[in-house]
Amino acid sequence: MKVLLIGSGGREHTLVWKIIQSPKVSQIYCAPSNAGISQLARCVDIDANNIDKLADFAQKENIDLTVVGPELPLSKGIVNEFNKQGLRIFGPSKEATEIESSKVFSKHLMKKYNIPTANYEVFQNSEEAFDYIKQQTFPLVIKADGLAAGKGVFIVKNLDQAGDALNTLMKKKTFGEAGRQIVIEEFLEGEEVSILAFSDGKTVVPMVSSQDHKKIFDNDQGPNTGGMGAYSPVLFYLNEFKKTVLEEILKPTVKGLQSEGKEYKGVLYAGLILTKEGPKVLEFNARFGDPETQVVLPRLKTDLVDILNAVIDGSLHKINIEWKNNSAVCVVVASGGYPGRYQKDKAINGLERLEKMKDIIAFHAGTKFQDGKIVTSGGRVLGITAWGDTISKAKEKAYEGVEKIYFEDMYYRKDISAKAIK
Ligand code: AMP
Ligand code: GLY
Repeated sequence: MKVLLIGSGGREHTLVWKIIQSPKVSQIYCAPSNAGISQLARCVDIDANNIDKLADFAQKENIDLTVVGPELPLSKGIVNEFNKQGLRIFGPSKEATEIESSKVFSKHLMKKYNIPTANYEVFQNSEEAFDYIKQQTFPLVIKADGLAAGKGVFIVKNLDQAGDALNTLMKKKTFGEAGRQIVIEEFLEGEEVSILAFSDGKTVVPMVSSQDHKKIFDNDQGPNTGGMGAYSPVLFYLNEFKKTVLEEILKPTVKGLQSEGKEYKGVLYAGLILTKEGPKVLEFNARFGDPETQVVLPRLKTDLVDILNAVIDGSLHKINIEWKNNSAVCVVVASGGYPGRYQKDKAINGLERLEKMKDIIAFHAGTKFQDGKIVTSGGRVLGITAWGDTISKAKEKAYEGVEKIYFEDMYYRKDISAKAIK
């Protein structure tokens, strides 16, 4: 089988690494890829959002299966176009991706099908939004409707902050069309957990649990990032939660989407918060999470290609998906200054020392080759991922790996998975 992977981050490196473990795969390509992926796959110099060129490439190379990493090509309809051309592709259609690409759609869907989530109101006008906010108690959560690369959510503690958030979204239009409509919702308290699930439109199979670390600094301080690390499993995600989440959140969501004429085939990612009243949905994503994928896929026993094919064919019920009984921890190493301004093109040292270690891998995100050397090319640079019998062991090994790596101004959190070990 010839496989094409779309994307260039740590999630995509992990997907490539897992997919080539399948004996069914003879060749893998990745567009546009990074330095780590290029050691496993053939790089294709096409942007992840250039759907026409990607489809031409898949036709010309007789690709048997295309797998989409990021949300943007999904929201632009890459799956619709590939299907139209008779090309096999893993991911939801443009219409089904609305569960991620429009928070207004996603909140209305949850309300209609009784899926537990924060109470909310939708506004298209900033004055009306402000009048509403004046009557509420703080904190409140203000969200852009559309895709904003994780930066469109504001937790506001007073009227001044609320005014600033409305200005950013609706007056300055920092996120363009994404802020044309906003959601204002109640602030929920609890621990967060990410549950990724495979769905073929009828059968829904959750993967093992994981937890992201969204803030830049230790103890969850500072601004949000794309994710500074993750671990799996989440020990406080008890069996009682698993049942509720499957029966009262994941299944009704897929069924609700079906009723709305949006068959859901792909990975459904539920960002959950475990409140005193039970698990509630903070957001849905229409894809694998990053960095959650880095800790979830190393724990998968079953051939991933078999699962992806079953999702496309609607035969997920026939597959027995098995997981290892171990733990995994991923520590993201970032460029100093991220998520603000940072410098690129810094030489990365120590990768070969890490390669000699067992049960650990450096998944690449923002890296590229320059004059034969691997250098930094983005904010999140590497996801050092280790596994072991317990979270403690995986954590110790991941940090041992991080210490082998050096580039100028590198930054990482020191407390990834610490919450799980207390
Ligand atoms: P989202 O992109 O909607 O998942 O929001 C990003 C982050 O903002 C979440 O991971 C939470 O940490 C926080 N958040 C979003 N919505 C709420 C809410 N209703 N209550 C408390 N925190 C929230
Ligand atoms: N880890 C957050 C995301 O993938 O959206």
